[in-house]
This record gives sequence, structure tokens and C-alpha cells, in this order.
Amino acid sequence: MLSKKVGKQLGHPTYSLSGWLVTKFLKWHNLILEENAVKLSNIQPNDTVLELGHGPGFGLQEASQLLMGPRGKLLGVDYSQYMHQMASKRIQEQISRGKAVLYYSDLVSMPIEENTVDKAFHCNCYYYWPDLKAGAKAIHRVMKPGGIMVTTLRLGNITKAASVGVLTGDNWRPEVYMEALESSGFTDVRMENKMENLIKFQAIFATAVK
Ligand SMILES: C[S@@+](CC[C@H](N)C(=O)[O-])C[C@H]1O[C@@H](n2cnc3c(N)ncnc32)[C@H](O)[C@@H]1O
Repeated sequence: MLSKKVGKQLGHPTYSLSGWLVTKFLKWHNLILEENAVKLSNIQPNDTVLELGHGPGFGLQEASQLLMGPRGKLLGVDYSQYMHQMASKRIQEQISRGKAVLYYSDLVSMPIEENTVDKAFHCNCYYYWPDLKAGAKAIHRVMKPGGIMVTTLRLGNITKAASVGVLTGDNWRPEVYMEALESSGFTDVRMENKMENLIKFQAIFATAVK
């Protein structure tokens, strides 16, 4: 019962005590994944970069510092109104300068033009998508040909979360997501083991072909 409640809040944080606690957890627990997803995306100053399921917005903040070129643009999408508002506050300055746009939307129907994104990243997000193929197709649609997608995760932690019922079904399994990416038009799909400050994590990479 409690595991299901925690899983529900992680997948879609709401304005509530548990939603607030979840955002504290995301900050202390996931910052390393957000920072590394940005690092591994190899962001260039004039790229258009998209974060899916950005949560409180720490990854957006990190990515914005790399988009210093005149054409550099940051996009974000999250279907939690609470997270949309929290992240909007965090990068208010970039939004007001027209350098960033955040969408309060399900990523499957994100209102982003096709073939416009150079780099897309997400952390701790795909496990909650009911249909991984629909999610992968939605990302592929907005990516430029050759665009790179990166997702970071801590496999040990999500395996534990699944064993206690915080994550349900099989969508948390990296191989299931990687298969969805391959069947949605991504190539060179691979998972690499990484480590920072003695913390082990994994990164999945995929390149959009069109
Ligand atoms: C566990 S939180 C992770 C937040 C942040 N990436 C991090 O690692 O700290 C998952 C986030 O993905 C968002 N999310 C999940 N499924 C989504 C979907 N289909 N469309 C848009 N946002 C989604 C949730 O609202 C939530 O903010």
C-alpha cells in the first residue's frame, strides 16, 4: 500500500505532503543522475536541448549553463503541474529571456515541432510510462536526424524498488525500454556502466535515424 503510494508520487508528484517529500528525495538522490545526463549529452552552445520528466528542474538548470550560443534553446516537458511550476520558478530568468520553454504536458503529446531537437535527456522517468513505444516514438518525432538521447538510471536502486512494489510491471527494465527505442527509429542503442564519487549508475544512449 505504502510502496504503491510512493511509486505514484514519484511518477506524478502532486501538491501534497508526500509530493513535497518526493521532491526533497529527488534533489538529494537524483542530482547525480541529472548532472551526468547533462554531461553525457555533449551539449553544444547552439543546441536545442529537451528534458523529459524534468521534475524540480535541476537538470534544466545545469543544461541552461551550457547553452550560451545565440541559438541555444532549452525545452522541458512534465505532466505534473507541481513540477512544471517548481521548475519554471527555478529557470525563470531563462524563460523570461526566451531561452527556455517548459510545457505542462504528457510527453506523448508534447507540443514540440518535429525534427527540432539536437539532444534529449531524461532521468528516472521512463519507468512510469504506460506505453514505452509511444514514449520512444514521441521522442523520435521531435529529434533531428542524428540527434542523441541519453537517459541515466541506477539499476541497483530500481531493481530494489521493483522488488518492494514501488515500481510495477516490466517497464522499468532497461532492456524493455531499449527495445522500444530500437523499434521506434533509434539506432546505436546501448547501455554503459558509469561511476562518480563511488556511486555506480548506468547511461542508455540512442541516436535518432530518419
Ligand atoms: C521520479 S520523477 C524524476 C524527476 C527528475 N527527472 C529527477 O530525476 O529528479 C519522474 C518525473 O517524470 C514526470 N513524468 C512521468 N511520466 C511522464 C509523462 N508521460 N509525461 C510527462 N512527464 C512525465 C513526472 O511528473 C515526474 O516529474
